[in-house]
Amino acid sequence: MAEWLDVNQVCEAPWEPELPPEAIEMSRRALPEVIRTERLVLRPYGFEDVDDVLVYAADKQWAQYLPVPAPYSRDDAIEFLARQVLLDRVVNPAWAITFEGSVVGGINIRFNFEDLIGEMGYAIARGLWGRGLVTEAARAVLDKAFGTHSDLQRVRAMADARNLASQRVMEKIGMQREGLLRRNRLHRGDLVDEVWFGVLREEWAQGRARIS
Ligand SMILES: CC(C)(COP(=O)(O)OP(=O)(O)OC[C@H]1O[C@@H](n2cnc3c(N)ncnc32)[C@H](O)[C@@H]1OP(=O)(O)O)[C@@H](O)C(=O)NCCC(=O)NCCS
Repeated sequence: MAEWLDVNQVCEAPWEPELPPEAIEMSRRALPEVIRTERLVLRPYGFEDVDDVLVYAADKQWAQYLPVPAPYSRDDAIEFLARQVLLDRVVNPAWAITFEGSVVGGINIRFNFEDLIGEMGYAIARGLWGRGLVTEAARAVLDKAFGTHSDLQRVRAMADARNLASQRVMEKIGMQREGLLRRNRLHRGDLVDEVWFGVLREEWAQGRARIS
């Protein structure tokens, strides 16, 4: 049998993709479980948060652009929390946003260690919109992500093109609008355009230097 058809050799071949050394280094470290900002405490979700989650997630306006069940039930909140509790906090750290003692939203970043990038998502209860709270949370998570992973090259975020508040948050944390993907997703029967934003490591570092 020709060497390239040797089944045993194929089966013995290592199946894991080879990662560059810096990616392996990145993948070993976790972002802090608790992040404190001026007004917020970001900490992992727990099952005890079910009532708080239900309060903001059952609001149709809150859910308008999000891929969440609508109407949103208590079982949906429990299922969401189960997924949060089981998260791999190295690859996909997520935090409940707590404000004045209650859980009012969430923020997460998912790392792709092979490509040295991260993708951020966030949401907060409607009653608190427009007070700069998600901008505050997102800046803190961005700082921890670039600060913890010295080889992280880029963080990106995506919004439904109609979601102007979310795009404004991305701008305020130093991201640039990079592209519009037309009719890129079916959301509750509507084909929606998606806007992508991103910030590169050096842009984040320059922004930090300007603030301090
Ligand atoms: C999008 C969201 C996270 C923003 O959170 P937030 O805490 O209100 O954001 P901030 O207060 O930090 O900043 C919001 C900015 O958007 C602006 N904004 C709000 N509504 C806007 C609108 N319709 N058009 C343009 N700008 C708008 C605000 O004025 C503010 O900008 P400013 O500081 O320059 O005045 C929040 O609205 C939310 O949770 N929505 C539901 C979930 C969601 O859509 N998540 C994002 C998915 S990509």
